[in-house]
Amino acid sequence: MTGKKIILTEDGSNTIYSDKFQSTYHSTHGAIQESKHVFIKHGLDYYYNKNNKQKISILEYGFGTGLNAFLSLKHSISKKININYLGLEAYPISLDEYKKLNYLQALKSSELQDIFELMHSKEQYINKKLHKHFTFSKEKIKFENFSSDTRFDIIYFDAFSPDIQNHLWERPFLDKTVSFLKQNGVFITYGAKGTFKRALKSLGLKIENPPGPPGKREITRGVR
Ligand SMILES: C[S@@+](CC[C@H](N)C(=O)[O-])C[C@H]1O[C@@H](n2cnc3c(N)ncnc32)[C@H](O)[C@@H]1O
Repeated sequence: MTGKKIILTEDGSNTIYSDKFQSTYHSTHGAIQESKHVFIKHGLDYYYNKNNKQKISILEYGFGTGLNAFLSLKHSISKKININYLGLEAYPISLDEYKKLNYLQALKSSELQDIFELMHSKEQYINKKLHKHFTFSKEKIKFENFSSDTRFDIIYFDAFSPDIQNHLWERPFLDKTVSFLKQNGVFITYGAKGTFKRALKSLGLKIENPPGPPGKREITRGVR
């Protein structure tokens, strides 16, 4: 793989190390553990329990390996809720790279192999119904250039950390990102830097700091 290496994290699931960004895509303490804890438990499940909506739209910054999308798909099936998902990704991994990841085995989800592979088969999709509960879009675009009239219930903010991509964790970039959230919408991320939390607060979000996954004290949730 040019510029990307597969790494085994401590929970037995893979992540990718990017030479370009000199960073892993997930916590080395556990990729699946982190994604489930941050985005599913404190993002999707939190929103669902609070709002009890049967139709939920999600915008993800950084589709990457597709792990957050795949866990959301699994959640939509187990909870019987309908998810409309849009993943943004400027540097999609190839199908060969995807095939080296062990998420299907680690999550004992071989019955969903075809769907997960489809997510990676093309660089872009518009409203592709991958399952009766899951409609999928993917856009090959730089976050900085993304624009939309659609508003989302949840934003999964999974860019690289502020050490690497500081401008994405600051205003004015966050002004535009937060504008894609509906009222009562949830902005969820693993990041918890003070300046970032203050920026979200100044944009009118109510900030909460749930405990982090292993290796991280806290994470950030903003409610609009
Ligand atoms: C921390 S990883 C996210 C991993 C992903 N959510 C997953 O579960 O694998 C960040 C992702 O954002 C993408 N990315 C980084 N900078 C970007 C930019 N400016 N615009 C669009 N995508 C970007 C990277 O290619 C990478 O896939």
